[in-house]
Amino acid sequence: MRPTLHLTVGLPGVGKTTLARELERGSGALRLTPDEWMVPLFGVRWVDFGGKRDVLEGRLIWVARHVLRVGGSVILDFGCWSSDERYALRVIAELADADFELHYVTLPEEERRERATARWREAPEETFEMTVADHERFLGSFTPPTAAEFEGSSIPPPPVPFGSWPAWASDRWPTLPRLDM
Ligand SMILES: Nc1ncnc2c1ncn2[C@@H]1O[C@H](COP(=O)(O)OP(=O)(O)OP(=O)(O)O)[C@@H](O)[C@H]1O
Ligand SMILES: [Mg+2]
Repeated sequence: MRPTLHLTVGLPGVGKTTLARELERGSGALRLTPDEWMVPLFGVRWVDFGGKRDVLEGRLIWVARHVLRVGGSVILDFGCWSSDERYALRVIAELADADFELHYVTLPEEERRERATARWREAPEETFEMTVADHERFLGSFTPPTAAEFEGSSIPPPPVPFGSWPAWASDRWPTLPRLDM
């Protein structure tokens, strides 16, 4: 059976990690949740002006690719807010002869904010404080997956000047080596 690269997509607090844990239990796939690594490695969570999250994510993608290549499935619990990130990860899965599955999690906005606030109150070690302004900014930066992305039918070319999606990905995540060379 071909391995699968699963990708969780959605805004903070919608339930991505909860879903990723269910997938992990049900399939035995390796779950990589950056939030579980940020504090142990860097002492910071998300608010990250030094690009530490990108450093971490690049290496997690690199690990994911190794696991896919030896036949294991992986869940990248990244949230992935942009279509470009999702296209790049799909191409990386294809290069590793793996299937790719998007798991888009949504909630009514009010409920999502309530959950994010409740989690900050109850489990501050798992999250960070989000103000109303933060939530507005998140909403403005998030691009939901399109129907074409779900179908996986065609992948557009990468943004100029990149010649391939793996080249784009090594620029987006500098700790990720070029996977098409
Ligand atoms: N079905 C549910 N009903 C109520 N609360 C839930 C449900 N699923 C998850 N939660 C709670 O909502 C909060 C957010 O869930 P989770 O951590 O899975 O979201 P997330 O999308 O991974 O968030 P983040 O983007 O911040 O990592 C958690 O406190 C979780 O326990
Ligand atoms: Mg999460």
